[in-house]
Amino acid sequence: MLDLSLQKEHDEQRQGEAFAPFALDGNHYKKHFYIESYGCAMNFADSEVVASILHENGYGATKDETLADLILINTCSIREKAELTVRKRLTTFKKLKRAKPGLLVGVLGCMAERLKSQFLEEEKLVDMVIGPDSYRHLPSLIEEAETGQKAVNVLLSRDETYGDIAPVRLNSNGVNAFVSIMRGCNNMCSFCVVPFTRGRERSRDANSIIKECKDLLDEGYREVTLLGQNVDSYYWIDEAQGTTITFALLMEKVAQISPLLRVRFSTSHPKDITDEVLFTIAKYENICNYIHLPVQSGSSRVLQLMNRTYSREWYIAKVDRIREILPDCGLSTDMITGFCTETEEDHQASISLMEYCHYDLAYLYFYSERPGTLAARRFEDDIPEPIKKRRLQELIDLHRQHSLECMQSEVGKTFKVLIEGTSKKNDQELYGRNDQNKVIVFPRGNYQLGEYVYLKVHACTAGTLIGEPVSKK
Ligand code: SAM
Ligand code: SF4
Ligand code: F3S
Repeated sequence: MLDLSLQKEHDEQRQGEAFAPFALDGNHYKKHFYIESYGCAMNFADSEVVASILHENGYGATKDETLADLILINTCSIREKAELTVRKRLTTFKKLKRAKPGLLVGVLGCMAERLKSQFLEEEKLVDMVIGPDSYRHLPSLIEEAETGQKAVNVLLSRDETYGDIAPVRLNSNGVNAFVSIMRGCNNMCSFCVVPFTRGRERSRDANSIIKECKDLLDEGYREVTLLGQNVDSYYWIDEAQGTTITFALLMEKVAQISPLLRVRFSTSHPKDITDEVLFTIAKYENICNYIHLPVQSGSSRVLQLMNRTYSREWYIAKVDRIREILPDCGLSTDMITGFCTETEEDHQASISLMEYCHYDLAYLYFYSERPGTLAARRFEDDIPEPIKKRRLQELIDLHRQHSLECMQSEVGKTFKVLIEGTSKKNDQELYGRNDQNKVIVFPRGNYQLGEYVYLKVHACTAGTLIGEPVSKK
């Protein structure tokens, strides 16, 4: 039987049935909202901005959808499967609406633009449709919907970054937080819907990013992940200081806030990641040695059709450079099988690239044509689904072997680990991650979340390292 679990996990990930456990003014909200986020971490970070806007306007968060006056679903369009998952949830909410007149349901995020008329008029599934750049208008749109009108705003902006809004952390462990540093994407990879759903790339004011990270540290957080579709093209001009802030400089400024604050980032584009970024990672102990570097295909011919603007050789040279400057760096990727015209030879090139890179982690997908993208307009989606899935399975099998080998190679080593939570399998154990993003479980002892501990690894499974505290490396 075909095992597509890697793809499934990613698509079905509901990144937190969002819940703000604290109400800002002592839990005296008259109305409550419930929010679910699908898709990438940026969507999850957006839900935290939405939560902040709603808190300011008198709505408290609830994690129980049946108690909500307002249900929001922050959607993803990246693959057809992601959209189907959202549709299923919307039918559940439709039932809730029938049982509770006055309940408002809104669709946010990347499905908003493309499906607004279908959701609002044809299927009458929702009361509000709000695109990713319109969240400031939520309060007025809610008022509009309360009068029985269909409320919609899906306009994309060239400059909205929500930089001045302090996100309300949802479902937080109080240790790790996402920080959006930019929005949109200018890259136009031919398979990808993001430039259409999220608009032009824009970078957020560096001062507001640094302030958010400092505030997080003061609140007890110990790790920030700087988010953007292409973080390496972050670019912001500080007019007051007359300086230009690149991604490397931004990361350095965040790292300098405190050695206690770990810095991660995602996603890096192979065409844009610079030596300056790699040297900055090497310079600061608290910038994690982990790079997510999506390759998409190992065939230069397919990469060209995908409009990725690099070749197989260019990508390999980047990986070599990463390993030269950061010998212990964890490396992960995204790959797509069965893109338009992909031959067995192209697929073998993806396999051999995976062999070469030996990734710690890989998110693997089969190609899903997205309406409106360059590929949908220019190329035929000509690889039959069983072939796409068979090729995907071959990559999954190879990756499983590599990730197990990566885990086994860590046995016997000692790592500095940030403690992030209680193990799901055993409440007498805690877990955390090392610099290279690997999860390590260990006996609870008297350790607390947010502390750093040195762990010596003595065993592993395919996904987890198992360790014991030691005094130091
Ligand atoms: N910005 C990142 C980059 O440049 O790689 C990726 C962003 S996208 C949200 C996450 C991943 O989804 C992509 O790297 C790609 O592998 C996958 N993806 C995007 N469009 C897809 C499609 N039409 N079919 C299958 N997978 C897709
Ligand atoms: Fe999509 Fe490419 Fe932009 Fe990533 S870089 S979001 S894959 S267009
Ligand atoms: Fe999905 Fe939009 Fe993110 S399409 S992957 S939620 S940018």
